Amino acid sequence: MAAQKGGAGKTTLATSLAVAAVQTGEIVVAIDLDPQGSLREWSERRETADIVFRPVEAAGLAALLKRLRDHGKTTLVVVDTAGVIGPEVTVALQNADLALLPVRPSLLDLTATRRTAERLEALKRPYAFVLNQTQAAASARVEDAAEALVEIGPLYPGSIALRTDHLDAMAMGMGVTEWRPRSPAADEIGELWQWVKGKLGETGR
Ligand SMILES: Nc1ncnc2c1ncn2[C@@H]1O[C@H](COP(=O)(O)OP(=O)(O)OP(=O)(O)O)[C@@H](O)[C@H]1O
Ligand SMILES: [Mg+2]
Repeated sequence: MAAQKGGAGKTTLATSLAVAAVQTGEIVVAIDLDPQGSLREWSERRETADIVFRPVEAAGLAALLKRLRDHGKTTLVVVDTAGVIGPEVTVALQNADLALLPVRPSLLDLTATRRTAERLEALKRPYAFVLNQTQAAASARVEDAAEALVEIGPLYPGSIALRTDHLDAMAMGMGVTEWRPRSPAADEIGELWQWVKGKLGETGR
């Protein structure tokens, strides 16, 4: 997860995607490279031990990923990063089979995400923008943002709406698909996960 913009939804999507993946049989490891530690704190709130949280510094990321790959058990590693692109985030991007770039439909987010996308283009790593915190009442703005994003790079064809279930699930140490399994928020995350899984099948190393 990467976005050169605080609050775009990196941690929210990281946690809910990790849970959705576990629910469909993946063996998931979660890594938090953000000094803020929001993903780590979420995993501490979490009551089930189905997602393994691995504390690691950026300098140790590649070695940890290699160990997990060699060990052959883990099928998905979700890495959350900070909202400021520094050397740590670059390490995560370099090692990503697919970088997800959450973007709110706002000019400031669009400008910031363009820089993250440029970084990924330079690193030649696959990525996709994910429109997050969209609002039905502002559908024209969402359409404008989608049009602007496809000009820059690959865009997830769905979107994740602004819904309080995401805040509640985060507070409970859960993903939305377990917090409110039959809800629009859960449906949207489930769809995003299926799409991500398909992409990882194409690009995974
Ligand atoms: N789809 C959504 N619906 C409702 N609230 C959301 C949604 N996505 C994110 N949020 C809320 O927006 C805020 C920022 O989200 P989050 O912490 O996931 O962003 P972030 O990109 O990880 O931020 P940072 O750069 O600070 O790490 C949080 O309060 C979160 O609960
Ligand atoms: Mg975060």
